[in-house]
Amino acid sequence: MATETQTKMKALHYDGPFKVSVKEIELPKILHPDDAIIKVTTACICGSDLHMYQGRTAAQSGLVFGHENMGIVQELGSGVTLLKKGDRIVLPFNVADGRCRNCEEGKTAFCTGVNPGFAGGAYGYVAMGPYQGGQAQYLRVPYADFNALKLPPGTENEANFAMLADIFPTGWHGLVLSGFKPGESVAVWGAGPVGLMAAYSGIIRGASKVYVVDQVKERLDAAKKIGCIPINFTESNPVDQIIKHNGGMVDRAVDAVGYQAVDKGGKKEVPNVVLDQIIMVTRPTGGLGIPGLYVPADPGAPDEQSGKGQLLISFGKLFEKGLSLGTGQCNVKAYNRYLRDLIISGRANPAFVVSHEVSLDDAVDAYDKFDRRVDGYTKVLLHPNGPLN
Ligand SMILES: NC(=O)c1ccc[n+]([C@@H]2O[C@H](COP(=O)([O-])OP(=O)(O)OC[C@H]3O[C@@H](n4cnc5c(N)ncnc54)[C@H](O)[C@@H]3O)[C@@H](O)[C@H]2O)c1
Ligand SMILES: [Zn+2]
Repeated sequence: MATETQTKMKALHYDGPFKVSVKEIELPKILHPDDAIIKVTTACICGSDLHMYQGRTAAQSGLVFGHENMGIVQELGSGVTLLKKGDRIVLPFNVADGRCRNCEEGKTAFCTGVNPGFAGGAYGYVAMGPYQGGQAQYLRVPYADFNALKLPPGTENEANFAMLADIFPTGWHGLVLSGFKPGESVAVWGAGPVGLMAAYSGIIRGASKVYVVDQVKERLDAAKKIGCIPINFTESNPVDQIIKHNGGMVDRAVDAVGYQAVDKGGKKEVPNVVLDQIIMVTRPTGGLGIPGLYVPADPGAPDEQSGKGQLLISFGKLFEKGLSLGTGQCNVKAYNRYLRDLIISGRANPAFVVSHEVSLDDAVDAYDKFDRRVDGYTKVLLHPNGPLN
């Protein structure tokens, strides 16, 4: 617990490409009556953090990462009425004000009130507003009544609930964006945490078949374990493999890879490869969900055009097939309450993706290993205030 005299806390600090360190920084303070401060019990490392870690964004040294946060309410601003000290809460990675037009319409990932000149805010993320990340001992939560999702007290289901900040809703959203209906077949590109959550959502929601494409063995094994059909894209064209196995194209496809997709050799980046393959694998009038991240500027892009976020895709094929598509950040609040209740009732256990749980001091090593996707590093949970009892 932060004592009266304590003014500093430990936080993970971005120092530059492939360099992070744990430093002492000022404790966060209540800056607005609607703020709360939480003591972070769990913060996850996300595939999205790696884009910054690798220097593939405009992130500046000094940023504290961490947009997948949960913890215990420690302090409340005078305007917070729904929360009380000691409440256990999980926060959507989106920071939203709950009062702009997009928030009113449930599109909290595109809030126009929290990040001037931009639609969307998040904790600890480049260009997503002035919000420090939660890979730290304490975190300031703006518009706390609106953003917090209350959890049952105690420590039960900690890892499952931590998945509610981002990846479980994001995977679910990927499927929603594709227009999925129960009974349909779906192919998910990427068996990282987001892809596995999209695949798991397909299983929970009654897909007839779920294909999962990747090259990392542990990740494909995880997909198989939950009842999906693994497809290794380095063996042969994944579109052909799926169409052959399925006896035709699938109804829906999800891109949970994004702009750092690699070619069939498994190493060279080809930013448009997945987008083009999901167009090819989906049946006429089917749908594509694209939660994988694409950026308008990429300092490390393989060519000038993709450096400006301009990607060549088979738009003619997309038109010919009459495919629909949806993309963008996930509106976590649209789903997290329902997914929480699936966890509480035992119907969902998204923490199967968690591979490692470590202290903040071990986060530096965890970033390195997660980035290299070695030792089975799939989803890392940090416990900045020590292990939970
Ligand atoms: N829309 C959102 O709100 C949102 C939220 C969280 C994450 N994301 C994004 O979703 C994407 C996935 O996140 P993650 O945490 O699972 O990341 P990750 O990096 O752990 O997983 C990506 C996976 O894609 C695989 N891959 C690479 N090239 C491929 C190809 N050609 N075909 C098939 N698989 C390929 C990689 O081997 C890896 O396992 C990232 O781009 C991330 O930024 C979006
Ligand atoms: Zn994330």
